[in-house]
Amino acid sequence: MSTDMTGWVEVAARSELLPGEFKVVYDGDTPIAVYNIDGELYAVEDVCTHDGGDLAGGTVHGYEVECPRHGARFDLRSGAVTCPPAYEPIAKFPVREVDGLIWTRDDR
Ligand code: FES
Repeated sequence: MSTDMTGWVEVAARSELLPGEFKVVYDGDTPIAVYNIDGELYAVEDVCTHDGGDLAGGTVHGYEVECPRHGARFDLRSGAVTCPPAYEPIAKFPVREVDGLIWTRDDR
């Protein structure tokens, strides 16, 4: 994993993150889960706002990821909660593709 001069973190080659797959990278201490949903890329903080569980690895339903711990759901397009027991959204981060490589960053 590498970081470019403007703070973007390399995720993977586009060819390595196929539809239905995800990958977690770190920007500093921030875990970022990048999902490929039907060819579109979405990056969110990999921390459930209910009790801090990892979201990566949870079942994906369309554009929603379900937290493996207690079942809260979040919309990967916006970070919004779609099902309790979480009530606060997760952070959503930018994702871009340059020369076949996927990049993301914690822009907060
Ligand atoms: S930690 Fe995610 S639903 Fe409880």
